Amino acid sequence: MTLETDVANHYTTGALTDRVKAAMIAAGIDPEAATAKDLKAGDEFHTGGVAASDHFFGHLDITSEMRVLDAGCGIGGTSRLIADRFGATVTGVDLTPEFVETARDLTEMVGMGDRIGFHVGSVLDMPVGDAEFDLAVMMHVGMNIADKTALMSEVARCLKPGGTFAVFDVMAGPSGAAALYPVPWSTVAETSFLHSPDTYADAAAAAGLTEILREDRTAFARDFFAQVAAKTVEAGGPPPFGIHLMMGETAPEKFGNYVRGLEIGALAPTEMIFRKDAA
Ligand SMILES: C[S@@+](CC[C@H](N)C(=O)[O-])C[C@H]1O[C@@H](n2cnc3c(N)ncnc32)[C@H](O)[C@@H]1O
Repeated sequence: MTLETDVANHYTTGALTDRVKAAMIAAGIDPEAATAKDLKAGDEFHTGGVAASDHFFGHLDITSEMRVLDAGCGIGGTSRLIADRFGATVTGVDLTPEFVETARDLTEMVGMGDRIGFHVGSVLDMPVGDAEFDLAVMMHVGMNIADKTALMSEVARCLKPGGTFAVFDVMAGPSGAAALYPVPWSTVAETSFLHSPDTYADAAAAAGLTEILREDRTAFARDFFAQVAAKTVEAGGPPPFGIHLMMGETAPEKFGNYVRGLEIGALAPTEMIFRKDAA
């Protein structure tokens, strides 16, 4: 099997749209009347959920005129947030067919199908034209990408001159300790590629992308997971609707290993923003 097949298999848990709808109903949300905001508890598959997205978008001047690429869009939470909040037109690309199917289903459900298109594909070979996008965002995808140079080169191809690439990934932490598996993005070490921010920056520079911001979000992540753990204990379990729906039966172990990785300095969730050189 190829790496991409292994990665897509890792993220495929089966009947996802049906389970999301059932979880929404259990959480008191009527799927027939839901809005994009109602999906936030369970559609942002990255550290910190919508709070992390709010911080990330705070670095970016997104306008309704922009065309935005969501590289590795998952079930489309980030795409819908950008279209809903800023009015931008968004294209999402993701490797996992089940995620793309659910992304389309949820987007239709909340009446946003005319502003967002989703495609199955790899971020290393995206089914979009050259220089189409003002902004590309990528949240928690690079951990599954071995070749960061190829990634940066492909994103640079899709951006207009002067366009922006905003990344929020789990990167290699400062201690050099090995991560424990499974984690949310990988069942085994062989499909996890944790690189330092400097490696991202070097790969970006080789593709004509200049680093303009770097922010370590480890402290935020530790606080976030501490709050989630306290709420879970208080409620006697996780809420019905949450990102654990995309993580299968080993979700608690995956979260636990991620938190441990933060504690031992193996992992460092980091925001990086790059600008494509103007023509
Ligand atoms: C942790 S999820 C994040 C999803 C989404 N960005 C979000 O924040 O909700 C990682 C996503 O990366 C996708 N992915 C991993 N490798 C990819 C690749 N080579 N090309 C496209 N998508 C990829 C997976 O299918 C999965 O949807």
